[in-house]
Amino acid sequence: MALYSEKVMDHFRNPRNVGVIEDANGVGEVGNAVCGDIMKIYLKINSDEVIEDVKFETFGCGSAIASSSMATQMIKGKPVSEALKLTNQAVTEALDGLPPHKVHCSVLAEEAIKKAVNDYYENNK
Ligand code: FES
Repeated sequence: MALYSEKVMDHFRNPRNVGVIEDANGVGEVGNAVCGDIMKIYLKINSDEVIEDVKFETFGCGSAIASSSMATQMIKGKPVSEALKLTNQAVTEALDGLPPHKVHCSVLAEEAIKKAVNDYYENNK
């Protein structure tokens, strides 16, 4: 079996939602101290608390890029409450799996989204 699924390779080679949202109202940046990879998520949340747009910048490995790409697709157009429930397991499953030593890359995506949502709540208290 190949180390990486077709979906991982697809999202790594052709990542969705890459970039910056200049007027984002929720931003979350996380890093992994062991590998040094960094992921930043930008959210544009509307007054109905729906994620209208989401973009990411990831300075890291292929699995981190694929995880960010998939995770952003999974929360785009969804209510904030649903984005908060996104787990790294769900991202990994949507990618048809990651090798065990790469699971932490998907954790970054979950953490970055949660941090961006928290940032939104902080800004809109
Ligand atoms: Fe650290 Fe992938 S190796 S995020």
